[in-house]
Amino acid sequence: MIKLLLVSLGGSLMVMAADGEAIFKQKGCTSCHRPDMDTVGPSLKKIAQAYAGKKGDLVKFLKGQGEAIVDPAKASVMQMQLSRIKNLSDAELGALADYILKFK
Ligand code: HEC
Repeated sequence: MIKLLLVSLGGSLMVMAADGEAIFKQKGCTSCHRPDMDTVGPSLKKIAQAYAGKKGDLVKFLKGQGEAIVDPAKASVMQMQLSRIKNLSDAELGALADYILKFK
């Protein structure tokens, strides 16, 4: 039920200006990435620190063109998740990167 609600909410958000936080939630990234705490994936803080000043590299990673630098041992887990965002525009991926980088 909640999932259904999020999906319909996500659909209406897509037509608005790219909102990194909304995309992050809508694409289910929150299930593995918390702000300050490592869960299945590294915390957003850790990711933001690793990519500080390297937004271009982060966008590249999100496009599936980069190498894992945060936790390479688990890279395959994250690589599978990239299919969730493969249809996003450059503007949307940029907004997503901006959102992640704010956690530094
Ligand atoms: C099933 C759990 C899972 C989901 C869902 C997930 N991630 Fe990850 N993510 C991981 C794991 C594990 C790593 C550590 C491996 C790595 O560093 O690539 C990671 C690493 C990352 C990194 C760091 C990449 C690097 O250079 O090391 C970024 C950025 C990232 N995730 C973004 C996202 C975004 C955006 C989403 C939503 C589309 C997402 N993740 C969804 C598990 C997940």
